[in-house]
Amino acid sequence: MADLFERLVKNYGPIGQHRERAHGYFAFPKLEGEIGSRMQFRGKEVIVWSLNNYLGLANHAEVRKADADGAKQYGLATPMGARMMSGNSNFHEQLEKELAEFEGKEDVCLLNYGYQGMVSIIDALCSRHDVIVYDAESHACIIDGVRLHPGHRYVFKHNDLLDFEKQMQRATALIEKQEAGGILVITEGVFGMAGDQGKLKEIAALKDKYQFRLLVDDAHGFGTLGKTGAGAGEEQGVQDDIDLYFSTFAKSMASIGAFVAGDRQIIDYIRYNIRSQIFAKSLPMPVTIGNLKRLELLRTKPELKDKLWENARKLQNGLKEKGFDIGKTDSPVTPIYMKGGVEEATAMVMDLRENYGVFASIVVYPVIPKGHIIYRLIPTAAHKDKDIADTLKAFEETKKKLDEGAYKAELIPDMAEYSAKRFEYFSSKPKSK
Ligand SMILES: Cc1ncc(COP(=O)(O)O)c(C=O)c1O
Repeated sequence: MADLFERLVKNYGPIGQHRERAHGYFAFPKLEGEIGSRMQFRGKEVIVWSLNNYLGLANHAEVRKADADGAKQYGLATPMGARMMSGNSNFHEQLEKELAEFEGKEDVCLLNYGYQGMVSIIDALCSRHDVIVYDAESHACIIDGVRLHPGHRYVFKHNDLLDFEKQMQRATALIEKQEAGGILVITEGVFGMAGDQGKLKEIAALKDKYQFRLLVDDAHGFGTLGKTGAGAGEEQGVQDDIDLYFSTFAKSMASIGAFVAGDRQIIDYIRYNIRSQIFAKSLPMPVTIGNLKRLELLRTKPELKDKLWENARKLQNGLKEKGFDIGKTDSPVTPIYMKGGVEEATAMVMDLRENYGVFASIVVYPVIPKGHIIYRLIPTAAHKDKDIADTLKAFEETKKKLDEGAYKAELIPDMAEYSAKRFEYFSSKPKSK
């Protein structure tokens, strides 16, 4: 019989296969110092473009104080247990009430994490006769929630309304044949890789033609889009057509946790049936108190969102003026599309970090097709003009080197923090029988 572990360590997966050269540098890097536009990486200052600290709240003085006061008064343990059993508090309920008001919905259910929350919302909402119709470029939390679904699912091509209608017709026909079930449509407010908004307005308009409920993951739109920052629904004027509005606190709120907003009865249904919350300890009090402070600042300081957009425009226009392809973004998420191999991409990233002091995330094969490189820059309200100017210059110079073939190499650079021996497993253990 094969040993399960032996198979796993023969293939560490698409990113894991590079770990011996990449660990601690290209993967699992450690950014140190106070969160801001400039931080320390391996002892050197770098301009950071990898954090979703959109509004710059991570290190805001009032936020730091609220977090510290909450921790001092309650510690991390309080409240103990799942909310349904013993872990509820007035602070949790207050946060739900304020979020519901902000999102223009009747009620909100807090979630400990966005990823788990989304998986579990889908699980709570759908039974085996229901059909899910979802966008092909949905975040992993949606994909994994759909994987748990025991019934049928149809995926539509990313933001393609013709294909959306085709899948809706298939879903509708199936439900009519079954004589049972309903349709849940899931998409995103902003797609986190390309930065394009989901076609919420167009999908909402099709509610007259098809019968479905709409669930939107607005992780990147919450706090960044819409007049008040309520997100992509507000931005596109269709907040009322979104039946369930979901966001994480991990981005604009620079915190942890998530929420889902909707009609009171449905949120109550979720509250009493969502397994990720019923079978897990509730959000710690300092996190909940810290989130109340963040929401207050998000609501009352529109200048933070204005600054974010000022910086996003400066960065995006600067890149476009220099001839970079930034695709179809209509959010602060700023992708830069380039051509090159994995080895070239890593050598370029290294040059950017070591010689230009620019820290940005990249995506390469096999996550995207071979020969393509995507940088993903996240501007924030905390970035300064000099950060943007230095970064534009760095990309201009390194892109020229990339095009001239200066980064061509056989292997990705060996930048691992530890010796490869650290990763050996079977060499140090007796073989299983
Ligand atoms: C679109 C989207 N949904 C959900 C999540 C997961 O949220 P969390 O980090 O709170 O688990 C993320 C990433 O954080 C995301 O980008």
